[in-house]
Amino acid sequence: MSKLWGGRFTKDTNKLVEKETASIQFDQKLMAYDIQGSIAHVTMLAKQGIVSEEDKALIIDGLHSVKKKIENNELNYSDENEDIHMNIEKFLIDEIGPTGGKLHTGRSRNDQVATDMHLYLKDHTKAVAAMITDVQQALLSQAKQHVDTMLPGYTHLQRAQPVSFAHHLLAYFWMLERDKGRFLDSLKRTDLMPLGAGALAGTTFPIDRHFTAEQLGFDAVYENSMDAVSDRDFILEFMGAASTLMMHISRLSEELVIWSSQEFQFIELDDSFCTGSSIMPQKKNPDVPELLRAKTGRVYGNLMALLTVLKGLPLAYNKDMQEDKEGMFDTVETLTASLQMLAPMIGTMQVRTENMKQAVSEDFSNATDIADYLVNKGTTFREAHEIIGRIVLTAIQKNKFLLDLDLEEYKSFSDKFAEDIYEVLKPQNVVAARSSYGGTGQSQVKVQLEHAEKTLA
Ligand code: ARG
Repeated sequence: MSKLWGGRFTKDTNKLVEKETASIQFDQKLMAYDIQGSIAHVTMLAKQGIVSEEDKALIIDGLHSVKKKIENNELNYSDENEDIHMNIEKFLIDEIGPTGGKLHTGRSRNDQVATDMHLYLKDHTKAVAAMITDVQQALLSQAKQHVDTMLPGYTHLQRAQPVSFAHHLLAYFWMLERDKGRFLDSLKRTDLMPLGAGALAGTTFPIDRHFTAEQLGFDAVYENSMDAVSDRDFILEFMGAASTLMMHISRLSEELVIWSSQEFQFIELDDSFCTGSSIMPQKKNPDVPELLRAKTGRVYGNLMALLTVLKGLPLAYNKDMQEDKEGMFDTVETLTASLQMLAPMIGTMQVRTENMKQAVSEDFSNATDIADYLVNKGTTFREAHEIIGRIVLTAIQKNKFLLDLDLEEYKSFSDKFAEDIYEVLKPQNVVAARSSYGGTGQSQVKVQLEHAEKTLA
């Protein structure tokens, strides 16, 4: 088969080289964007008088029918035509004859592929942002039901202070809000059009890049043609935002795994989000959060791979850059599947409020409150800390919790203790007392819920 660029060559391409240098097996995902870009390009060529109106109409019709035929699997991509751009151009020429050969006037695959990537990522960045919102909605609706549900809050995975379960869930809501912000911010850089940069230096044809950009819905065009075809920062930004997002998802996933263990039993994931064991009939495994935790690795890997591909590349286009695609597609697809599973998994999870409550009444997570109690009665915080440390030690030795010690025992540590200490130590009061802005006290959590709701509105 003759190549679109065959003129300069006297030998056929080695078959293995042909297969390995082709990108059609993966860049066919850009098909619709490539055709969209071509339609805008030829529309501009006609407006500028570079091709005739009749040729334009013929080419656009041809592109539409090529698209339809590809979607109906009536056309077969081939490695001989290397990538999505040349496969489509070849199909077009087969469809409408030599006029199809006018489409590539004033354009190079270098600005074409970059434009396709920008179009693809613009769409998917918006889609990812919307899917993040779905997860936030799920967190929010669980949170609303659990303002008064208490569970131990941890540091070092040791029980620290009791918190409202809504507060714990909302922590993830805000992480996701920042993630969404990162994606949306990256759109500013993705919303730039490389087309018209040509191979690297611009073109001799009197093109109108701003018109093409308008046709394609781009906010602006690259100022520098060499930068336009060499830039892959916008993909790195997407992957960077994706990595942070997956890091957050992996932390949440880890908590879901821990909380659904026999040892915790704080939540139960819906059966539809768990799987069983082929040997142990009793097992119900939290495979989904485990997988989400692991998928983080491939998203980080894709970022590192592209950073490494781009490092040290001279301007402008280099074939190395074809390696930008699979990682980008994989990141988009991994995020999509992860977010789409996460939202309903959160939405359907059962919260074992009794077990959480039980846990906060059987620990020392109210110890800070005794310290604060003494401070309010004039003891310095350091002194109070020391006293409570000894009280905790005594309680542990007596196999008791802080609410079980009698007033005489308290008074033996400080004469400032009185009957009201028992109210202070009740877990619901411990939580409620943390009413500083952003704290876990129910009054503050309600304010937070309102702000979260406004944020999504
Ligand atoms: N398939 C190529 C890529 O993805 C398109 C650009 C090819 N340009 C070139 N001069 N070989 O990077």
